[in-house]
Amino acid sequence: ARTRRPLIAGNWKMNGVKADALALARDVAAGVKASAWSDRELLVCPPATLVAAVAEAAKGSGLLVGGQNCHAKASGAHTGDVSAEMLKDAGATHVIVGHSERRADCGETDAIVKAKAEAAWRAGLLPIVCIGETLAEREAGKTLEVLETQLEGSVPAGATAANLVVAYEPVWAIGTGKTPTVAEVAAAHAHIRKVLGGLTGEAAGVRLLYGGSVKGSNAAELLAAGDVDGALVGGASLVAAEFLAIAKAA
Ligand code: G3P
Repeated sequence: ARTRRPLIAGNWKMNGVKADALALARDVAAGVKASAWSDRELLVCPPATLVAAVAEAAKGSGLLVGGQNCHAKASGAHTGDVSAEMLKDAGATHVIVGHSERRADCGETDAIVKAKAEAAWRAGLLPIVCIGETLAEREAGKTLEVLETQLEGSVPAGATAANLVVAYEPVWAIGTGKTPTVAEVAAAHAHIRKVLGGLTGEAAGVRLLYGGSVKGSNAAELLAAGDVDGALVGGASLVAAEFLAIAKAA
């Protein structure tokens, strides 16, 4: 039996208005309900405006709902931001923090990502901390070093197998149709688990997701790689059948 229950998470990014989102959420929720999986978890992370409606649509199905980002503070003068508490109140159980698009678009540093992960804990959400190297970093042979630096800076003290999920997303694999080889994924994940061991003391139980161009046709291979405990899926999570096919492969 697997010791770590796979998590298949869909990151919808900035896609969907209510009608599309609800149709997608209902289709995914129906698939989750029909499958009645007890050995894996499925999560969708819609845009903040749709978290409440999607959570409502997912109710009773077993499908989990999360946010894509949160502010580090619980409330206050931060125009346009959404706190972890607000996501929780809307029905979220998880929140993605430190996605490479936010690190690049919004200048999120490791320290900011760490504060957001702590905010998730404060609100009772499970943070999915994202890390990953750029193409230039990979080509320079710096992948493992970059992952180590990001983990050390982004994972808060007090992380445990129960309160942390890490997603490895090579920046060059996101939305490109390119993926690392299974051996490269396994090597990155093994290194992540080793570094986490030094940071948390119980790294063996922390779930490590792979993200970057995961689809139905490559999911089985990527999810079977050593130390891979699930996937963080972008584009393919916008099609219910594709997302469910990935979950089935887990
Ligand atoms: O967070 C998931 C994401 O960055 C991967 O996107 O479209 O390559 O599956 P995609």
